Amino acid sequence: MTRKSRETFGSRIGMLLAMAGSAIGLGNIWRFPYMLGKNGGAAFLLLYIVMLIVICLPVMISEYLTGRRGGSNPFRTFDRLAPGSKWRWIGLIAVLASVCILSFYCVVGGWSVRYLVEACSGGLMGYQGDYAGFFGTFISNPWKPLAYTMLFLGMTGLIIVFGVRKGIERMSKIMITVLFVIIVLVVIRSLSLPGAVEGVRYMFVPDFSKVTANTCIAAMGQAFFSLSIGCGCILTYASYVHKDENIAASSAWIAFFDTAFAVIAGLAIIPAVYAIALMNGADPDVSAGPGLVFITLPGVFKSMPLGGLAAVLFFLALLLAAITSAISLMEVVVAFIIEEMRRSRLRAVLISFLLCGGIGVFCSLSFGPLDGFRLFGLSVFDFFDYITSNIMLPVGGLLLAVFAGWRLKRADYIDELTNGGTLKLPRRLALTIYYLVKFVAPLAISLIFLNCILS
Ligand code: PHE
Repeated sequence: MTRKSRETFGSRIGMLLAMAGSAIGLGNIWRFPYMLGKNGGAAFLLLYIVMLIVICLPVMISEYLTGRRGGSNPFRTFDRLAPGSKWRWIGLIAVLASVCILSFYCVVGGWSVRYLVEACSGGLMGYQGDYAGFFGTFISNPWKPLAYTMLFLGMTGLIIVFGVRKGIERMSKIMITVLFVIIVLVVIRSLSLPGAVEGVRYMFVPDFSKVTANTCIAAMGQAFFSLSIGCGCILTYASYVHKDENIAASSAWIAFFDTAFAVIAGLAIIPAVYAIALMNGADPDVSAGPGLVFITLPGVFKSMPLGGLAAVLFFLALLLAAITSAISLMEVVVAFIIEEMRRSRLRAVLISFLLCGGIGVFCSLSFGPLDGFRLFGLSVFDFFDYITSNIMLPVGGLLLAVFAGWRLKRADYIDELTNGGTLKLPRRLALTIYYLVKFVAPLAISLIFLNCILS
């Protein structure tokens, strides 16, 4: 496929919403609040923001810039920018990382489809037992979660079949807009509960006693995961972006939206959990881990006025957020298959579906029949979650920073960042970004890894 025949995003806002759609996902609504709960609330938030500014934003700008300059899938992009070198294998690792993430991501996506269906039919609010039982019975069933996982993956594939403009861009625009409106409604409901202020305090008053070397890895992993960097998603989307986009500004906007959304999602969940726990005279359990959204929250909705409606809205938001991220992951694989294996878009989607769905089966079954099976001491699902967020993405980011900082020429980097000098980006800012990528980001990522290994 030649460069000319490649699709591009139709508008700036469409491009921004597609990228924001990739970034805003289960990482914000499902993962961030429980990570916050587990790792000392505001202390984690603070650490997260530092990681974001010092490491992730410069890496994101570089991934964006590399993708736009290369104008192809990750494999070919590295090959074009560094012909004949080993760098293209980094591109292949990025494609692999996307496969690994989508394989467990689609399982949680499937859970959100089921919860939405149950919330709409009244089955969720009408359930009489405790929600730990509801969730446990569902995810350990050998068939049901699998069916929902495939349904989720199928919906993702269906959007991608329509291509960049008509599929990805159009759906991201609609879904992200609806998502924002919904989550604001849920936040209003959550904050208006008596006692909610305790939850807000938890989110914004730091407890540094919980910060360890592992917290740093967790905060870094969460930042990489949440911004969708290190696995070729931003790079692939960037290859559909016009040459006159302001890369630094777009990246900063996306990072800002993503972080704001994570905090907003936290405000939708944590204050409500506190308020209802106080009302029932119980201890608020915000460190419940992955079950926070699927176990604690339905109980919270059940106890609050208008909870049935809040549950429908919330699980719809969760599903929309998950799909817009899943399409960016699948598009990495699809673009690779179209361009390197010369298959049609439809075939490429089918192959990606089978590949990710195939691994997804094992991730899903690891909550049921494959419960006892362990990879390095972790269940299949936890293994994929852990190695992708905490290892593959930061290592991908590290390699990308090294590529952009050391393999690309400084003049080329600045040229791409300033659109050939036509942008009024202060030179000092451009150079700061460049040096952050060249020295600070690789060093910081390495130190965090070292710190974790040694402690
Ligand atoms: N950023 C997405 C989220 O927060 C997940 C994701 C990771 C998507 C990596 C693409 C690439 O849920």
